Amino acid sequence: MSDKNSHWRFATRAIHGGYDAASHQGALNPPIYWSSTYAFDSAEQGAARFAGEEPGMIYSRVTNPTVANLEERLASLENGEAAVAFGSGMGAITSLMWTSLRPGDELLVDLTLYGCTHSLVHHLLPQFGIVVKAADFTDPANLGEHLNERTKLVFFETPANPNMRLVDIAAVSERVHRLSPAMVAVDNTYCTPYLQRPLDLGADLVVHSLTKYINGHGDVIAGAAVGRKEIIDPMRWVGIKEMTGACLSPMDAYLVLRGLKTLPIRMDRHCQSAHAIAEFLERHPAVTRVDYPGLASHPQFELARRQMAQPGAMIAFELKGGLEAGRRFINALGLVTRAVSLGDAESLAQHPASMTHSSYAPEERERHMISDGLVRLSVGLEDVDDLIDDIGQALARVG
Ligand SMILES: Cc1ncc(COP(=O)(O)O)c(C=O)c1O
Repeated sequence: MSDKNSHWRFATRAIHGGYDAASHQGALNPPIYWSSTYAFDSAEQGAARFAGEEPGMIYSRVTNPTVANLEERLASLENGEAAVAFGSGMGAITSLMWTSLRPGDELLVDLTLYGCTHSLVHHLLPQFGIVVKAADFTDPANLGEHLNERTKLVFFETPANPNMRLVDIAAVSERVHRLSPAMVAVDNTYCTPYLQRPLDLGADLVVHSLTKYINGHGDVIAGAAVGRKEIIDPMRWVGIKEMTGACLSPMDAYLVLRGLKTLPIRMDRHCQSAHAIAEFLERHPAVTRVDYPGLASHPQFELARRQMAQPGAMIAFELKGGLEAGRRFINALGLVTRAVSLGDAESLAQHPASMTHSSYAPEERERHMISDGLVRLSVGLEDVDDLIDDIGQALARVG
């Protein structure tokens, strides 16, 4: 985005950011650059591009004009200096870990993490000599004893997947920066920059699964990281280029750019419907607990108001009848789709104890704070009354 447009507000940047139609024959939508490689005028030009002395494309694993358009738009929306896109959210997270950690370094994470991030940090990174520590980040005071000169990265989600615990980004970032040289990275997938901007609150890096709300239409797997150029450059030039190879296809970048245009109005509607459904669930006798940051009953309701523009559209709730009630509820849904993932136009529900975490022993699920009756709901864009009707009839069958 040129400097002359830097005053644009969020919704305008979500549509126009990073793209100048005049330099593409007036095409309203960006062209998709289907090219794996790029011609150099001379050997000297090739050398200058590799050395980073001259801007320009080299090879699409590292840079591509359509992907660059998306990266510029994401950087603008997160108020970051630079961005790099990946072939998945896990591509972003693995590229971050591999480029920022060395054997002997310490990584500090929150107790609750998305399942594959959890496996990466707790099962795989320790095999490479990285010391992984976990703490309950809901109270920033818990971090102090784990921070020291060797802590190089602090990573968390807020709200956390799947139990909707929140982390105070400003308080955690301040403490980490005061007590260690670590970089603070926040997975902002649940919120998108429309609801929460971690860089403005003191974090150093934001990662995303663009697969979710940012694309919003359930037809792409993609990821991104946004932050200072000095952090983003190695994630591209070492992370994607030499370690993970997790580059984004130009077609997928185009689809995410298209999805981004409607992000603000989609998020408004997602949040409005989620609020109504959370209130419905809270009143229902078959439900013992609802975790939604927009309800006054959420233990971190005040933090949600301070940190998030709206409470999002993910709801976790607990059924009275435990495992069997969860299974019955999920199987009785008609309109709401039984599926993993989130952030699509379609409402999606999953019951971890009988689906994603069914192979865990009950004690293991308890350790991961996944109770047997927990249901996770991603509220979509259907008519909210149809969603409430469907959820209501399924709840009536849990017995
Ligand atoms: C919070 C969060 N972060 C990261 C990911 C991984 O993203 P992807 O599936 O695009 O690799 C997910 C996927 O569900 C997620 O929920």
